[in-house]
Amino acid sequence: MKKEPFILAIESSCDDTSAAIIKGDRVLSNIVSTQDVHKEFGGVVPELASRAHQKNIIPTVDVALKEAKITKSDLDAIAFTRGPGLLGSLLVGVSFAKSLAMALNKPMIEVNHMEAHILAHLINDGSPIPEFPFLCLTVSGGHTQLVVVKSPLDMEVIGETIDDAAGEAFDKISKIMELPYPGGPLIDKYAKKGNPDAYKFPHPKVGELEFSFSGLKTSVLRFLQKEVRQNENFIEEHLYDICASVQKTIVDILINKIKIASKKTGITRIAIAGGVSANSELRKRLLENTYGWQVFIPAFQFCTDNAGMIAIAGYYKFKKEIFVDQSVVADARLRI
Ligand code: KG4
Ligand code: ZN
Repeated sequence: MKKEPFILAIESSCDDTSAAIIKGDRVLSNIVSTQDVHKEFGGVVPELASRAHQKNIIPTVDVALKEAKITKSDLDAIAFTRGPGLLGSLLVGVSFAKSLAMALNKPMIEVNHMEAHILAHLINDGSPIPEFPFLCLTVSGGHTQLVVVKSPLDMEVIGETIDDAAGEAFDKISKIMELPYPGGPLIDKYAKKGNPDAYKFPHPKVGELEFSFSGLKTSVLRFLQKEVRQNENFIEEHLYDICASVQKTIVDILINKIKIASKKTGITRIAIAGGVSANSELRKRLLENTYGWQVFIPAFQFCTDNAGMIAIAGYYKFKKEIFVDQSVVADARLRI
């Protein structure tokens, strides 16, 4: 039997520096260095992110190799995120991968970050792996997409957001409430203690498979401004109910779109991916499974940005010997 390859994967598209080692389709290590420097600014500061990647990348790769109990010379290839993402952040990972590949004389594999979020479902970690084709809702800080996944290398975006992403909606609404960045996990946490039906926010009027979240942000802002005029402690006193109501609105919108997409495509294997797939209400609602779907949710560590997902995407390209040479450049707007 052919030996399964060892691949080192690098992810640096936003504010997490991550390195992973995969052997075949099994992730041996998946190290994520989160950058706390952005918290006080209420969002990612691109220049600071890029500098922190430079500082973190070598130690992160070292830990990934150590945890996988291999050395650089054991590697068969180096995979990296080419895009989409913040250009200054991507450049650090791409340059690192290119230098290391050159020094070790190993092939390089470019990976699309959005495809990788989806392919995290193919990681062999004991969780059920969807058969093709499946429908994936990818919800992250930068993207909200409905994707028909026909094979690891063949995907079609059938719907996406026309303005903000779902994660961005969580983060911007939490910023209005003066919660630290990233707000998604906090809204999720506080929502657990609140009443999801306390306040009603409108759903956007957009195309059947389109998403829009900027209107929700504006309506929450207007609602809170009005309430705060009457009671300056309104947000503090009703934080849990506000979070639960906002979260319910976002999750309702997402589930409705999956329903439409499933009906249109006839696909009932439903997967979620991206940072917002860590949301407990979204997971709960999908797992209640009142729609006759077969639902696939990635393990927590493979939901938010991580190099494990880049590694599995790299593995499927490795098998087909789809490599790139040193002329490859980062692409902040790379599309599926
Ligand atoms: O995929 P990801 O780690 O990075 C991007 O590629 O954007 O997604 C980050 C997004 C952020 O907007 C964050 O607030 C959101 O995922 N997020 C959550 C949760 N955990 C992370 N949103 C809602 N509930 C969560 N539990
Ligand atoms: Zn992401």
